[in-house]
Amino acid sequence: MTELFDGEPSGARAAEYYDAAWLDGVPLPGTGIVGLMLGDQLHPPMVDDAGVWGSGPRWVEGARECTRRLARLAGIGPADAVLDVGCGVGGAVRQLSNEFGCRVAGLNVSAVQLRTAASLGGPAGRAVYVLGDAQRIPAREGAFTCAWTFNMFYHIPDKPRALREMHRVLAPGGRLAFDDWVLTPVADAADRAALRHHWSSPEWMTDGELLHAIRQAGFALRGEPADYTHVGAGVMRRLFASTYDRDFAPRIRALDATLGARMADDFREAVQHTIDLYASGRLRYLQLVAERR
Ligand SMILES: C[S@@+](CC[C@H](N)C(=O)[O-])C[C@H]1O[C@@H](n2cnc3c(N)ncnc32)[C@H](O)[C@@H]1O
Repeated sequence: MTELFDGEPSGARAAEYYDAAWLDGVPLPGTGIVGLMLGDQLHPPMVDDAGVWGSGPRWVEGARECTRRLARLAGIGPADAVLDVGCGVGGAVRQLSNEFGCRVAGLNVSAVQLRTAASLGGPAGRAVYVLGDAQRIPAREGAFTCAWTFNMFYHIPDKPRALREMHRVLAPGGRLAFDDWVLTPVADAADRAALRHHWSSPEWMTDGELLHAIRQAGFALRGEPADYTHVGAGVMRRLFASTYDRDFAPRIRALDATLGARMADDFREAVQHTIDLYASGRLRYLQLVAERR
């Protein structure tokens, strides 16, 4: 599928965040401590399942279920050519091609993550990895039937532009399969500043702004977005801290004598802040499908 691409990627701040090489001993280069908790699925297990949230080793299973859930919502099947925009280390590239039989191209600004993705392998002839920026996708017009973006849109500085790019590379009738967290209108400047601090992400949209931008880019929403905010405000709020403290924080502390404790505490604080935003109605977690008009 390499013939579908051209051009050079532009840089992005997110690449520095994920390429930071300060985690000697972590098995998935480019994933930081997230890989230690979630393997090749670099997104939270937003499932309403106390069994998953109460057991660290099961988080990856919950994260895979979230991938499967969106794939079903988007009706992905063997005829699809999917572009995974911000593919991490290719967790969804492998899962979508293995479970749904489609071809998948993974696009990422992080060269380190792409090297890790390639080293993990994938179905021969049905998966390819390409270095590139969501705001300037190095692919031909109409090359794909599905643009997949999973827990990465919050990273993008110019979100309307990225949506227009996903629209451009989709064939007529193609679908946008979208998963991300967005603010609500109640969120204030302090919430935005705290999110920027914790998650290395420049711009945050509200739910209304996101849906407007999706329509403006030339998509029609297929039904209402599926809302998983209740997971953040419910089972995640109840169980995240105790599971993290028991199953992951000690391992993160042990990674580095100087920085380990700080990394463990920073991550805990970042997630706890996110949970507070879900619980107070200032943040939502959405999955949605839209069709290219
Ligand atoms: C939280 S990870 C999610 C990865 C993957 N979607 C998953 O769920 O496992 C966010 C990903 O988006 C990538 N990313 C951030 N900004 C990007 C951009 N402008 N263009 C392409 N990829 C980007 C990061 O390098 C990282 O791989």
